[in-house]
Amino acid sequence: MVNYFEILFYLSIFLLSILSYYFCVKNNKSSSKRKGYKLPPGSMGWPYIGETLQLYSQDPNAFFINRQRRYGEIFKTKILGYPCVMLASPEAARFVLVNQANLFRPTYPKSKENLIGQSALFFHQGDYHNHLRKLVQASLNPESIRNQIPHIEELSITALNSWAGGHVVNTYHEMKKFSFEVGILAIFGRLEVHVKEELKKNYSIVDKGYNCFPTNVPGSPYRKALQARKRLGKILSEIIRERKEKKVLEKGLLSCFLNAKEEKGLLVLNEDQIADNIIGVLFAAQDTTASVLTWILKYLHDNPKLLECVKAEQKVIWQSNEQENHGLTWTQTRKMPITNKVVLETLRMASIISFTFREAVADVEYKGYLIPKGWKVMPLFRNIHHNPEFFPDPQKFDPSRFENALKPNTFMPFGSGVHACPGNELAKQEILVMTHHLVTEFRWEVVGSDSGIQYGPFPVPVGGLAARFWKESTTST
Ligand code: HEM
Ligand SMILES: *[C@@H]1O[C@H](CO)[C@@H](O)[C@H](O)[C@H]1NC(C)=O
Repeated sequence: MVNYFEILFYLSIFLLSILSYYFCVKNNKSSSKRKGYKLPPGSMGWPYIGETLQLYSQDPNAFFINRQRRYGEIFKTKILGYPCVMLASPEAARFVLVNQANLFRPTYPKSKENLIGQSALFFHQGDYHNHLRKLVQASLNPESIRNQIPHIEELSITALNSWAGGHVVNTYHEMKKFSFEVGILAIFGRLEVHVKEELKKNYSIVDKGYNCFPTNVPGSPYRKALQARKRLGKILSEIIRERKEKKVLEKGLLSCFLNAKEEKGLLVLNEDQIADNIIGVLFAAQDTTASVLTWILKYLHDNPKLLECVKAEQKVIWQSNEQENHGLTWTQTRKMPITNKVVLETLRMASIISFTFREAVADVEYKGYLIPKGWKVMPLFRNIHHNPEFFPDPQKFDPSRFENALKPNTFMPFGSGVHACPGNELAKQEILVMTHHLVTEFRWEVVGSDSGIQYGPFPVPVGGLAARFWKESTTST
């Protein structure tokens, strides 16, 4: 879950670590000479600050794309003191994320690790990561998601009803509330209302601090976030205590964690590890899904003909369910070809995880180039998703492009390899269920003019997409 704020953060450590950085580069230079491979092409920019200013003086995507044009699929740069190798081709991304994944470890700023918790799976590699991943995947498998659909449906109807009435809402903000609720559901199953409120309030303080400058001085958002994170730990251990005592049988990630048995090859976790991973999953699940949902609303609004097609597809399902008086089913969400393609095209266009970070754990050679040990390595998902070679006319929102077979490894909205998103199926279901009710029972209007992309934690339409919602009064049964 890397974002542009990550880069901002690097500025802070950078200022503190100019000296150690200086030695690092010296070492890297000598090691590259030793091996005889050359570094990838590209400019390291000014001493220390590298190409940071260039990155900030323009749209970050333009920065990456311009360099790809100039240098090709692999190029070096330096951002906020860190030498980086950027990879803009499907093969190179695959090399780092899949084939040689053991040579590239995930890397996150310490301040973020501390907020989420050091034991969360996405900071790890190797056995611990492997074991944890099995547990997380087990709780997010299709069987469990299938059972959650009625609850997800309820949550989306509640959310939509709360927006209806024509007042202006911040779509992203509201979608975050919704995806948080789904996250809670996937983790805890049912949860007492007051416990959920406590979690929600404290988590939102953590969330605010996550995207702030990480100074631990009294009153700073980051410090408040650390304190709220501690309280979250307490709330979670209280929930765990109660579940153990009362032998509560709820489905979800927490139960998977609590019921893990070593003899089945599953890792038994201590309370801190459980807490870190629960916060981690909540974090991975919330903003990502919310920003995709926000983009879907925008793209559908901008493409009225497409919206009509999606509506038509969903109305058929809606009417048959209305007649038979039941809710959406897993089988139905699997048979929404048009809507599904809209979701895929949204994932491509918005590429909300534009890139990710790894760090080379050893000197690595790729196509004759050296990736020195300790350098950051960034697979650029967005560049791949916007390369006209793979996606003709890439700036056009065109779901029909997904009717044709894609070139291998060119579409990675959920990443790839050992760290690929274990929540992808839940995310898709959530998005389909929300879209179903949105287009069949509501209409909406985007407020204000189109003013582009806001590069927050995840890119969203500027202002989080201000919109008005109304419940359709005429239900066509
Ligand atoms: C549309 C929404 C989502 C998108 C686009 C998305 C995308 C991604 C991507 C690209 C990665 C890999 C990051 C990397 O390799 O550095 C990832 C990892 C992850 N995602 Fe998602 N995600 C979404 C929703 C979710 C949801 C709903 C959950 C959980 C319920 C979730 C849980 C995770 C976790 C736990 C990881 C870390 C996996 C690991 O390190 O092994 N994500 N996600
Ligand atoms: C946070 O959690 C604590 C319990 O540890 C609770 O008393 C408090 O009301 C919660 N909410 C906020 C905003 O801190």
